[in-house]
Amino acid sequence: MSVTPALQLVNIHKTFGAGTINENHVLKGIDLTLNPGEFVTVIGGNGAGKSTLMNTIAGSFPPDIGQVVVNGHDITELGIYKRATHIAHVFQDPSKGTATRLTIEENMALASRRGLSRGLRAGVKSEDRIKMKERLAILGLGLEDRLTTDVQFLSGGQRQALTLLMATLRRPDLLLLDEHTAALDPKTSAMVLEITEKIVREEKLTTLMITHNMEDAINHGDRLIMLHQGQIVLDVAGEEKNNLTVMGLLDMFQRASGDHSASDSLLI
Ligand SMILES: Nc1ncnc2c1ncn2[C@@H]1O[C@H](COP(=O)(O)OP(=O)(O)OP(=O)(O)O)[C@@H](O)[C@H]1O
Ligand SMILES: [Mg+2]
Repeated sequence: MSVTPALQLVNIHKTFGAGTINENHVLKGIDLTLNPGEFVTVIGGNGAGKSTLMNTIAGSFPPDIGQVVVNGHDITELGIYKRATHIAHVFQDPSKGTATRLTIEENMALASRRGLSRGLRAGVKSEDRIKMKERLAILGLGLEDRLTTDVQFLSGGQRQALTLLMATLRRPDLLLLDEHTAALDPKTSAMVLEITEKIVREEKLTTLMITHNMEDAINHGDRLIMLHQGQIVLDVAGEEKNNLTVMGLLDMFQRASGDHSASDSLLI
C-alpha cells in the first residue's frame, strides 16, 4: 500500500493584479508532493514566488488554478483560520509569531489552544505550567525560568525559538518556515536552526523551509527545491543533495534557469 502524501500541490497557478497593468503571473504550474516527515529546503531569487507558494499552502489566498491537498484532504477552498489547526507558518519577523505584550506562559497557553476556542483569556493552570517548563527547557535558553516575563523583553532569537516551539506545540500536519532565521545574527540564526532541526526530527514534522542561505539549504533537510520565475527548476534529494556544494548549486541554478546573472539574485 502506498503512503498518503503529507502535501500534494497540483498545478498551482497564481496571478496578482489580473487584468491590470500590474498583472503578475507569480506561480506557473507548481506540482509538488511531500511524503510524511520530509524536510525540504526551498531556495530561489527575490520574487521567485517562494513566499507566495507558502501563503497559498497556508490559505492566505486561494490559487487561481490547482489543488492543495494535505494528508489526502483537498483544502484548496478552506479558509486560513480553519487551516491554522493543521498548518503552522513561521515568518522572518520575530515580533509576528508571538503576542509581545503577553507573558511567555500566556503565549504558550494561547498556542496550546490554536484552532480550538478563540477569544478566551489565556488562563494558566499549575499543571499547564509544568508541561510548559518541560517544553521550554528543550530550547536550552533558560526560558523555563521566565514564564511570567513579557515576550517584548526577549531577544529576537529567543522570540523566534519561542515562536517555533509555539507553532509546533499542537503537532501541525505541515510546518512552513519562511526565512525564519533571516532577521537574526549568524550565531543566533545557527542556534534557532539547530532548534528547528531538533523539533522537526523529534516530531517527524513535514516541513518546508525557505532560506536565502545556500549553506543552510544544503546542510538541513532531506530534499532541496529551487524556484525560479514561479516554477520548480531543481528538485534534489538523497545522495545528490548530500553531495551539493554552494558553487555546484549556483551552477545548477544557472543551467536550470538559463540565466547567467541569475545566481546573483539567488545570493541576495
Ligand atoms: N499579495 C500580493 N499582491 C500583489 N503582488 C504580490 C503579493 N505577494 C507577492 N506579490 C508579488 O509576487 C512576486 C513574488 O513574490 P514572493 O514574495 O512570493 O517572492 P519570494 O520568492 O518570496 O521573494 P523573496 O526572496 O524576496 O522573499 C513578487 O513580484 C511580488 O511583488
Ligand atoms: Mg519571500
